Amino acid sequence: MDVVILPTPADVGTFAAQLIGRRVAASPGTVLGVATGSSPLGIYRELARLRAREAISLDGLRCFALDEYVGLPPDHPGSYAAFVAREITGPLGLAPANVRVPDGSAGDIARACIDYEEDLAAAGGIGLQILGIGTNGHIGFNEPTSSLSSRTRVKALSEQTRKDNSRFFPSGDTVPTHCITQGLGTIMDAAEIVLVAQGERKAAAVAAAIEGPVASMCPASVLQFHRRVTVVLDEASAGRLA
Ligand code: F6R
Repeated sequence: MDVVILPTPADVGTFAAQLIGRRVAASPGTVLGVATGSSPLGIYRELARLRAREAISLDGLRCFALDEYVGLPPDHPGSYAAFVAREITGPLGLAPANVRVPDGSAGDIARACIDYEEDLAAAGGIGLQILGIGTNGHIGFNEPTSSLSSRTRVKALSEQTRKDNSRFFPSGDTVPTHCITQGLGTIMDAAEIVLVAQGERKAAAVAAAIEGPVASMCPASVLQFHRRVTVVLDEASAGRLA
């Protein structure tokens, strides 16, 4: 695991976007796994900027979103389908057909999880997975106690996560109770992983993930077993590393 500590949150996005740009240039058909939430926003904005300057080409890029709320229609502004359309598909100029989000409003949710795994396998798996980390150490929505070998499935969101994510539901809608998420085993199948974190509120989870024991109580700690992970931190989120 490579750990890169940079002065500011903006530096985190720039560094990670440049790393991703190099990988995409080396392998244009790359399948990119995309996290939502606030942590990777700087990455997507920098990738869009590099593309606008023609410093990188994202032609042919395919994306798989990590997770989605159960029960939110894709056009709900709090859904991850809406986030991906707004922050990734549009700004990066991707063909919507090349962007796959788990179907959280499917009638048969169990089937939707299987379909997602099958589509991922058919695409050849994730080449590069972008991750954020929850304040409780989750990656994707694999909450503490998640099986380290789990596959895409429905999970109940913890109270902590629902509280943390209430900021994405300003209209007063309650945060859904369940989600579809790639499992930890699914995430570990990615050829390469880049995890980004910013801010003091992530410092305890970051320290547990990188320096703590590998344990389901800190799902991100499973990344210690992955062969190609880069963790990109600002100074505040790195503040509790030994
Ligand atoms: C989002 C996801 C989550 C977030 C995590 C951090 O697709 O899978 O694991 O990365 O909850 O969220 P932010 O970045 O909003 O602090």
